[in-house]
Amino acid sequence: MYEERIKRTELQQKIISADQAATLFKDQMVVASSGFTKAGDSKAVLKALAASAPANPLKITLLTGASLGHDTDGALAEAGILHKRMPFQVDPALRKKINSGDVLFVDQHLGESAELINEKIIPRVDIAVIEALMIEADGSIVPTTSVGNSAAFAAAADKIIVEINMSVPLSVYGVHDIFSTGVWPHKRIIPITDAGSRIGQPAIPVDPEKIVAIVLTDTTDSPASINERDEKTSAIAAHLLEFFSHEIKKGRLPHSLRPLQSGIGKVANAVLEGFIDGDFHHLTMYSEVIQDSAFNLIDAGKLDFASASSITVSQACYNRVFSNFEKYKPHIILRPQDISNAAEVIRRLGIISINTAIECDIYGNVNSTHIGGTAMMNGIGGSNDFARNAYLSIFVTQSSSKAGGISHIVPMASHIDNTEHDVDIIVTENGLADLRGLAPRERARLIISNCAHASYKDELNNYFTEACKRGGQTPHLLQEALSWHSRFNENGTMLKTVHV
Ligand code: COA
Repeated sequence: MYEERIKRTELQQKIISADQAATLFKDQMVVASSGFTKAGDSKAVLKALAASAPANPLKITLLTGASLGHDTDGALAEAGILHKRMPFQVDPALRKKINSGDVLFVDQHLGESAELINEKIIPRVDIAVIEALMIEADGSIVPTTSVGNSAAFAAAADKIIVEINMSVPLSVYGVHDIFSTGVWPHKRIIPITDAGSRIGQPAIPVDPEKIVAIVLTDTTDSPASINERDEKTSAIAAHLLEFFSHEIKKGRLPHSLRPLQSGIGKVANAVLEGFIDGDFHHLTMYSEVIQDSAFNLIDAGKLDFASASSITVSQACYNRVFSNFEKYKPHIILRPQDISNAAEVIRRLGIISINTAIECDIYGNVNSTHIGGTAMMNGIGGSNDFARNAYLSIFVTQSSSKAGGISHIVPMASHIDNTEHDVDIIVTENGLADLRGLAPRERARLIISNCAHASYKDELNNYFTEACKRGGQTPHLLQEALSWHSRFNENGTMLKTVHV
């Protein structure tokens, strides 16, 4: 029954097919789409655009909240439609095109990406495609499982195509909290004082004249793949939980800790699951994404409230949550990503942020994006929005991988996203290094001793000892600093001596 989802009745005339909607796109357009960590993304129109490419070749710049699901980014990349993409992606086919130079990629802090639009650095958005639960009588759009940058896109776009997703239950109405800070010099304070603060409206205000087409879909979000805990992720989780208990004993943290942020991934999930059995109560989350573990913690009575920009969960969890949404609604809130990731709020709330590193160097600099300093993996995402402003900024990684050929603790990170000044704690399965209040030389000793893999410890210590002989606040042997990465490219291992 689409009528109950399009309350501005004259807009019901605008329903067309996704293939018809695809004909509205022209060469050189700037297109913006809803979608954040594969949730609330365009399910039909962008796919139809990719399919129309052979008959209608064109190039567009595509902006989103974050990653799209359903391999849409891959389909668009392989169809040759993407000229430029921002601010984040996780698609293997698109990644390949980015690294071959066929698609330009702007890797942008998720919390600041709306600014490119609001401040007219990107001067126009031709078409915005926004997935919606419903359209209100005044034309405003109620999002589905994410908010992302949709409010900024709707305000800036010349034309809007709405995808009404009939599969999302109407009980989702009321979970969104849409708030705009406006632009400089009159930006508003964001009056969030705890994770559950409600400061805005349930829908995105839209000039209904801009809505040029409505497409009906019933495709659910791509499910998140859940990695079972393994020995390494369980060990990392155990180190972190022990650290939190220690901080509680010292009186630096309450049993409810401070609001948690965790990036997507197996380690973050393992840590959050670990809270179920620990002596932690009345936890809250102020994060980007609400994942399975958050709903498990709500069910266990441990998590009071979770605020984020999207809900990205496994199929089983999706079925459980959306078939009984009224149960979970009082515990969750979905916000625009410039609010979920706002520096101002993250600092005020004293967030504990947990993100994953590709590699960390011995001084605590973290590479979150580039393999071997050159090839893009996914993007910085919200990691630095949180890491820079959190009370406790934690990075987790395994100490080594690829049969020991990669050390994730290196002399010098081959690219730096999160600097030594933004990183408080590094954890691997071997142990935890609390870097707070330590000078670079102290940090290096601790990271090597607590976090590095046994087979790399001697080489890291030798490097550090030799570097210290040369002096400096942050001692390095410049001719050797990146030799571990070159060796990996040449020999498939960072080890100097391969034992057979
Ligand atoms: N050198 C070479 N390759 C490396 C590497 C290194 N130091 N570190 C990781 N890789 C490779 C892995 O081998 C793997 O390749 P494969 O798929 O061929 O096996 C791939 O990169 C992914 O590594 P994995 O350990 O499976 O990573 P993950 O799924 O836990 O993700 C990040 C780790 C860092 C890529 C991911 O967390 C990310 O994109 N972070 C940035 C965004 C972010 O933090 N957002 C947080 C807010 S939601």
